[in-house]
Amino acid sequence: MTQASDPGQRSTILAVDDAAENLQLLTTLLKDRYRVRAAISGERALKIVATPPMTDLILLDVDMPGIDGYEVCRRLKRDDGTRDIPVIFLTSRSDVKDEQTGFDVGAVDYIAKPISPPILLARVNTHLTNKAAKDFLRDKNVYLEQEVVRRMREVSMIQDVTITAMGSLAETRDNETGNHIRRTQNYVRALALKLKDHPRFREALDAGTIELLYKSAPLHDIGKIGIPDHILLKPGKLTDEEFAVMKTHTTLGRDAIAAAERNLDAPVSFLRLAREIAYGHQEKWDGSGYPQGLSADDIPLSARLMAVADVYDALISKRVYKPAFSHEQAVEIIRQGRARHFDPDIVEAFLEIAAEFATIARRYADGEGEPG
Ligand code: C2E
Ligand code: SIN
Ligand code: SIN
Ligand code: FE
Repeated sequence: MTQASDPGQRSTILAVDDAAENLQLLTTLLKDRYRVRAAISGERALKIVATPPMTDLILLDVDMPGIDGYEVCRRLKRDDGTRDIPVIFLTSRSDVKDEQTGFDVGAVDYIAKPISPPILLARVNTHLTNKAAKDFLRDKNVYLEQEVVRRMREVSMIQDVTITAMGSLAETRDNETGNHIRRTQNYVRALALKLKDHPRFREALDAGTIELLYKSAPLHDIGKIGIPDHILLKPGKLTDEEFAVMKTHTTLGRDAIAAAERNLDAPVSFLRLAREIAYGHQEKWDGSGYPQGLSADDIPLSARLMAVADVYDALISKRVYKPAFSHEQAVEIIRQGRARHFDPDIVEAFLEIAAEFATIARRYADGEGEPG
């Protein structure tokens, strides 16, 4: 098709035979459709394949003085640059064992001498088409793999930047730095890693989910964007009415994330997790939390993990409405909340890695800005 009509696109065939009249015959038969290069010996053939243009197919005589056809083929198959060029042996031998040797060294086909022109043309065409299809698929696969990696990286970067931007927007309302976000996402990951082999949690906490938890944690208080300053920033204790408004930060957060999800064609798992966390992180194990008053395992695991991380950080931080507590006081308050405020197994994990929480808190301490 295009091969015949566009000489620039012609396939290049290398014919190798120690008999000049055979080379002449092959050239005559093939030259109307292909670019033909001829080699009178194995040595010449190896030199020619190494020089442009690229050889697409080789017709290779077996019996030649010097390097014979089998050896030429072996060498071609050893070299990355020539390994994929299909080799068809031309042979007058009809011995089955010789044919086996030809395939063993990597030939794709045999053509018997004396050469039948229609068979030659048909086989050459078949093997060139196979080769082109293989090349196409290989190039396409390489391209697609690179493209997938590139896009995943891009999506992941956009996710990270977006979450951080949204999260810090919520946080700058009542905090000076983005450190609360960094601390809580690190606490959540530390808890999840501690619990990933626990019988109650190991099914849920695979490596991918832990990474997504880490990524979505910054959005837990995104709903605080919707809370008026006079409540959020009130230096003292909230009235019941004010606290009722304050509690809506959970549903506001869920709604904001759900709205973002509706603009997407497919569910995005980190947004689903972020929504669960925003909506559920103020629930309590004994059912006394908000907004739904869920208890125990009805509270999504992501939200139960976030509750411990969030409260620890609220406790050790100075808020407009409260002083900072020490690490030891915070640990004690969380211990008291076991099976009341918090999932008891998550509290156990927290108590075991409390020192790690303290390390994270120091690494992203307030007033330090970006860690060095
Ligand atoms: P936050 O400051 O991030 O606190 C998150 C959670 O940490 C609180 O959820 C609570 O469970 C825990 N927590 C914080 N401080 C203390 C404390 O001193 N002792 C104990 N035992 N737990 C503490 P909660 O109470 O539902 O509050 C949700 C959000 O409402 C708080 O987020 C904060 O932004 C706001 N808030 C709560 N109480 C007040 C208040 O009296 N005044 C003001 N201005 N805001 C408040
Ligand atoms: C903070 O005061 O550190 C942030 C409050 C929150 O986002 O929970
Ligand atoms: C911060 O997140 O950097 C501030 C936390 C706090 O002091 O309340
Ligand atoms: Fe909250």
